[in-house]
Amino acid sequence: MFKRRKITVIGAGATGAATAHLLALKELGDIVLVDVVEGVPQGKALDMWESGPVEGFSVKVTGTNQYDDTADSDIIVVTAGMPRKPGMSRDDLLKINADIVYQVVEKASKVSPNAVIVVLSNPADVMAYVAQKASGFAHHRVMGQAGVLDSARFRTFLAEALGVSVRDVTAFVMGGHGDAMVPLVRYSSAGGIPVDRLLDAATLEKIVTRTRGGGGEVLGLMNVSAFYAPGSSLVEMVKAVLLDERRILPTISYLNGEYGEHNIYVGVPAILGGAGVEKVLEVDFTPEEAQAFKLSVKSVRDPLSQLSY
Ligand code: 2OP
Repeated sequence: MFKRRKITVIGAGATGAATAHLLALKELGDIVLVDVVEGVPQGKALDMWESGPVEGFSVKVTGTNQYDDTADSDIIVVTAGMPRKPGMSRDDLLKINADIVYQVVEKASKVSPNAVIVVLSNPADVMAYVAQKASGFAHHRVMGQAGVLDSARFRTFLAEALGVSVRDVTAFVMGGHGDAMVPLVRYSSAGGIPVDRLLDAATLEKIVTRTRGGGGEVLGLMNVSAFYAPGSSLVEMVKAVLLDERRILPTISYLNGEYGEHNIYVGVPAILGGAGVEKVLEVDFTPEEAQAFKLSVKSVRDPLSQLSY
């Protein structure tokens, strides 16, 4: 007998709710939205579910404050924690979000021992490490979301500069999800044409800078953190795992020797499929890229070293 997939979204804030609704619209599974605040996950889930007849989706969306209701989930999406406020860096959320992420993942993983965990809470690279410690799951079943979002911003700005569809622009960002992230121009193309053949160096530098500051730009405009593009990015990763798509996506993955790094979660190109991170892909670097990636990894190790997991 076929069972419908089950997806838990922890955190019924703006990003969690956007993610849950997108998951329902794409009918990727029944969704359970869980949050500590009474009434909020229940109300948002009921409201989403009631959009089903109009949107034409048959999956169920429920909200709860109880982790028992999330049992036997195939995917656990973690958006719980404080979002950035204007003037804050993502690392300013380290201590408070590490405690929150550890607690919620410990509870959720206990009742869904076979799930794959995707973490968005910031600072995302460190929170993926915390989630793996809290769950005790194999490293390949725990990952973080940041690179799909940063690459989406990179692609958006490249497409705008080129006057072409975003669908024809491929690009990826590596490293930590912060100011030291590494948008890789050399591996970005439009219609298969390397972008540095189509745009001048000054334009590309401006786009790289805007990509690095993409989260802060949205935050600066509306005084709350982005949630639409983060939600879409989470859903792309969840779909790749649930449908065993074997997508090549920038993913915060555990490194055990890849890129010469050990015992850290950081953004790298990876193959995402039914097992979670099926394989980390190692790309060649120029000396400058290698230096930028090393600095970016350090920007993750520094906050990580402040925790005792
Ligand atoms: C961002 O870059 C929330 O970190 C996320 O918008």
